[in-house]
Amino acid sequence: MRNYLLVIFVGVNLLLGGVNGRFYKDAEREIDTNGMSAVGDPGMRRNGLRVAFEAWNFCNEVAHEAPGMGSPRAADCFDVSNSTLLHKVSEADNKLGIGRTFKGLSTEAMHRPDLYAVEKELYLGSLCEVSDSSKPWQFWMVMLKNGNFDTKAGLCPENGKPKPPFTTTKNFPCFGEGCMNQPTLNHRPTQLLGDGTMRGWFNGTYDLDADIGKGLTNLSFYEVIWEKKLGSGSWVFKHRLKTSMKYPWLMLYLRADATKGFSGGYHYETRGMLHTLPRSNFKVKFSLEIKKGGGPKSQFYLIDMGSCWKKNGEPCDGDVLTDVTRYSEMIINPDVPAWCSPTALVNCPPYHITPNNTKILRNDTANFPYGAYHYYCAPGNAQHLEQPVSLCDPYSNPQAQEIVQLLPHPIWGEYGYPTEKGQGWIGDPRTWVLDTGGLASRLYFYQDPNTPPAERRWTSIDMGTEIFVSDKDEEAEWILSDLDVILL
Ligand SMILES: *[C@@H]1O[C@H](CO)[C@@H](O)[C@H](O)[C@H]1NC(C)=O
Ligand SMILES: *[C@@H]1O[C@H](CO)[C@@H](O)[C@H](O)[C@H]1NC(C)=O
Ligand SMILES: *[C@@H]1O[C@H](CO)[C@@H](O)[C@H](O)[C@H]1NC(C)=O
Ligand SMILES: *[C@@H]1O[C@H](CO)[C@@H](O)[C@H](O)[C@H]1NC(C)=O
Ligand SMILES: *[C@@H]1O[C@H](CO)[C@@H](O)[C@H](O)[C@H]1NC(C)=O
Repeated sequence: MRNYLLVIFVGVNLLLGGVNGRFYKDAEREIDTNGMSAVGDPGMRRNGLRVAFEAWNFCNEVAHEAPGMGSPRAADCFDVSNSTLLHKVSEADNKLGIGRTFKGLSTEAMHRPDLYAVEKELYLGSLCEVSDSSKPWQFWMVMLKNGNFDTKAGLCPENGKPKPPFTTTKNFPCFGEGCMNQPTLNHRPTQLLGDGTMRGWFNGTYDLDADIGKGLTNLSFYEVIWEKKLGSGSWVFKHRLKTSMKYPWLMLYLRADATKGFSGGYHYETRGMLHTLPRSNFKVKFSLEIKKGGGPKSQFYLIDMGSCWKKNGEPCDGDVLTDVTRYSEMIINPDVPAWCSPTALVNCPPYHITPNNTKILRNDTANFPYGAYHYYCAPGNAQHLEQPVSLCDPYSNPQAQEIVQLLPHPIWGEYGYPTEKGQGWIGDPRTWVLDTGGLASRLYFYQDPNTPPAERRWTSIDMGTEIFVSDKDEEAEWILSDLDVILL
């Protein structure tokens, strides 16, 4: 009953938020008493925005900065006073790159791009931090990743172990030397326009010598524009992502990451928006409008969640040999099929758990919901896997990873997730209120036998797309707003 009330109040909030400030406040207080927000800016409604940018190579590192761009970390953070935006991060801060010092930079990191980016993120976090409560928070995070992998460059470890250059028959995309480069970054700092709209953006390309002002044909491109009316509504984040022949595998997400500790895919201290880590009892609310899907290879994640716990269930501590990144994603592109099937158990998790906590083994062909799973892969450092099993890619993360990918299916209906292909897709914009905690606590994740079950704490929650090796130029375009993570 409490959950039901919460949803009602959120709805009221949406309808009247812009019209009647007082009523909106009341509705907000109602949410507070029934469920606390886990994010610093519930529903993206704060006028003084906090947003940052990070770009990752194939294994979530930097390797080499793009010429003239500095370290691929940036932020746009400001407070609003008397209709003036007071920016907290200068363009000089955003351009900081190896060899240039800032407050808190260690000598060790000065000339090492991977370490430098980590410390730059902490520095930007210190400039953006909102500490008007006991739980300080920093920013929403725009995350961009280039899926090119040059196995001859020796840049990525294998399940966390250093790996020298190698050749392989596997088809990792790479056009040749330099294919793992970082992108250009253009930043329009948020400004208040004459009509009362605040607006700013990040955009750029991986094609370093291109002039994107002259058209995007054959070029990679990304862009996130944020807009909000001063004093009302939610920030609206408009995303575009375009692949090209040279850059066929790109990812762009808007993340709510932990404000401290390791967030999903990191093996180092991070900054973000989740001041409280959601565990099993929480909902995720947001509005999503998909305008262009990004083609058949676009694994659009209605929601993607990431965390880290060790093989034995203990929390991660940064030891990349025993830490395991855990991801789960609901893919809503109707073109993406279930690879898991009664004749391909290798792509299914060992079992499914129903909302009423009944365990269904994947060889129970009469009952297992095969269509609910796109793909499951196990961490490469696990020693007690049930056969047959697919191992996750050992190179695309700083440590071993495990991935559970879901598809719309009636079995997820109880959690408010899409039950049929096409729901929430192009032409069907929706506001979702997902019982992500209920679903996530029932997903299968690997653990060594006879170890106490991990306490699942989600350090990253995000939305966006992974265009997974397109064979032609593809473009995705979507709008995200109202994001909140509500603890029940
Ligand atoms: C706010 O701005 C207006 C117009 O610029 C100015 O007249 C007014 O004094 C300012 N108020 C404060 C409190 O700074
Ligand atoms: C990208 O950003 C630049 C600089 O802010 C801007 O001139 C341009 O219009 C933006 N979009 C494209 C498609 O280039
Ligand atoms: C784009 O690439 C195709 C195939 O390589 C080529 O034929 C075409 O001329 C290119 N277009 C532009 C505008 O560069
Ligand atoms: C649990 O739900 C399934 C359908 O999802 C149903 O067949 C089964 O009888 C239920 N079991 C219990 C114990 O309620
Ligand atoms: C199903 O798999 C379980 C192991 O997960 C095994 O014990 C059982 O014998 C299998 N059942 C059939 C019918 O193959």
